[in-house]
Amino acid sequence: MLRLLPLLLLFSSTLRACSGDGAGAGTQVQLFIQCFTNAVHAPNLLALPNTASFNSVLLSTFQNQRSLLSPDAAKPSVIVSASRESHVQATVSCARAANLDIRTRSGGHDYEGMSYTAARSVTGGNAPFITLDISALRSISFDAALTTAWVQAGATVGELYYAIGKKSAALAFPAGICPTIGLGGHFSGGGIGTLTRKFGLSADNILDARIVDAQGRLLDRKAMGEDLFWAIRGAGSAGFGIAVAFKIRLVSIPPVVTTFNVVRTLRQNATGLVARWEEIAHEFDTNLFVRVIAQASKESDGTGTIQITFNSFYLGRREELLAVALRSFPELGLTAADCTERSWLESTLFFNGDAGKPTETFLDRKPASNSSFKGKSDFVKVPIGGGGLEKIWRFMMEAAIEEPMVLILEPFGGKMSEIGEDAIAFPHRKGNLYNIQYFMRWFETEEAAIQKHLEWMRKLYAFMAPYVSGEPRAAYYNYKDIDLGRNAEGKGTSFSSARVWGEKYFKGNFKRLAAVKSKADPGNFFWNEQSVPPQ
Ligand SMILES: Cc1cc2nc3c(=O)[nH]c(=O)nc-3n(C[C@H](O)[C@H](O)[C@H](O)COP(=O)(O)OP(=O)(O)OC[C@H]3O[C@@H](n4cnc5c(N)ncnc54)[C@H](O)[C@@H]3O)c2cc1C
Ligand SMILES: *[C@@H]1O[C@H](CO)[C@@H](O)[C@H](O)[C@H]1NC(C)=O
Ligand SMILES: *[C@@H]1O[C@H](CO)[C@@H](O)[C@H](O)[C@H]1NC(C)=O
Repeated sequence: MLRLLPLLLLFSSTLRACSGDGAGAGTQVQLFIQCFTNAVHAPNLLALPNTASFNSVLLSTFQNQRSLLSPDAAKPSVIVSASRESHVQATVSCARAANLDIRTRSGGHDYEGMSYTAARSVTGGNAPFITLDISALRSISFDAALTTAWVQAGATVGELYYAIGKKSAALAFPAGICPTIGLGGHFSGGGIGTLTRKFGLSADNILDARIVDAQGRLLDRKAMGEDLFWAIRGAGSAGFGIAVAFKIRLVSIPPVVTTFNVVRTLRQNATGLVARWEEIAHEFDTNLFVRVIAQASKESDGTGTIQITFNSFYLGRREELLAVALRSFPELGLTAADCTERSWLESTLFFNGDAGKPTETFLDRKPASNSSFKGKSDFVKVPIGGGGLEKIWRFMMEAAIEEPMVLILEPFGGKMSEIGEDAIAFPHRKGNLYNIQYFMRWFETEEAAIQKHLEWMRKLYAFMAPYVSGEPRAAYYNYKDIDLGRNAEGKGTSFSSARVWGEKYFKGNFKRLAAVKSKADPGNFFWNEQSVPPQ
């Protein structure tokens, strides 16, 4: 009897919340709650709209306010906060029984908010769905020899870096730069960062995984089979199942690494330096990682300019770096004063703009962002050259409205060129000099302001076409971009229409991904606006 009371409260708020959804949706949600509560006996794991707990869970890890503000974005009809793997299995079984879709959320950093919103224009109005938040599934356990670790998918990159750094200063794992990214989305989509040239992607260093499939079964690598294990390393997990844990290979690094920023404006020959960087950065010693951050700025006299930051580190000590830099990139003029020796863990704070802060900063999930952003990506196979760069800078300076656009150029080569395009689902390998991310962040909330910023990003993307890879114009799946196309016909989306965006993300691997999907989830239970449809 005592257990019934909270359940009744849950029901009444469900009905209120879903009053616009027609009778079907409310009933589906009730069916789900009944089923889940019978299976798990923990109604406190469920949060329903219009309750305080719903908003606090919904806002606990989202990054992009744009996704919540959009009139096209439906919010979940129920959020499940799983704290055990069995809760994930129960969510799948009960969602199927109630005919509800699931959006899984690990770190909430999806560029288009697909882990906690669904486009009404795609799902057909108010189709209800569940957000399954697995941020409580975040344990990290190392093997005795410290060569591998099992990490749960709800952990963040920062939590993983912290755990590794505390074990040993001579160990690391190649993953992204932002510490609040969740492993669930990040690892399955690739995982690019400062160690990529030396060790490959996060996904290249996954040895095993545990996923829950559309039947609610918990499968490891052996049980899921090599095809499915191949797919969830680069093509995301969202269209194939729910990733609950990964076994990763730790990598060895020197206990002291050296970070540096070299900043140059147009008057300081930034264009010449970037043009040189384009030709050589992919061939640097793999211990040397130099990325380029470009943004509109002002010279000291107020003239518009582009500020270039060569945001960098070297896996080794300062003296060694200075010799390597003099040999490989003398034009940069690197000096000892530019360089700081740190542990690898401290270097990850440096790259996040938090140099010198305590490493415990990485345990802070920093919830509730009050800003919106839009990202896009490209790959570059032929150097753009000084003339092209000057045109791009001019475009950026003219666009520098309230929030300027930022270009981040990350060098490939090294290990990335040694791994075949079809070794895992992530296809962008040999021949790519670097990857560009276009990024714009803003704080206004009005629809007109959102559209204005999106428009600038689309213009920039069109402007860049002649300078970047084509046929297909490649894109990085973890920098998800709905402008590339979407599953417009919902679950019935055809393979041929999905190819338009699918081959940008996955190139020649798209076909095989659709074949894997046909076997793993023929009914297309795991579905979103950009999930690979069955063949
Ligand atoms: C500020 C910022 C910085 C970033 N920096 C980098 C970077 O340096 N390098 C880089 O490579 N990427 C970077 N990214 C991109 C990041 O890798 C992707 O956004 C990634 O998908 C986020 O994973 P998540 O778990 O946090 O996101 P979520 O929003 O939770 O999920 C992303 C997608 O994966 C699905 N998903 C999540 N968890 C699971 C799961 N357990 N099982 C199945 N499906 C799941 C979701 O449904 C959604 O479709 C950055 C993103 C942001 C916002
Ligand atoms: C700018 O840098 C490039 C590449 O290092 C170099 O070739 C060129 O001479 C430099 N120009 C000036 C004016 O210093
Ligand atoms: C958003 O949050 C940041 C960091 O907390 C704060 O500095 C900024 O003023 C906020 N902006 C708005 C528009 O609320």
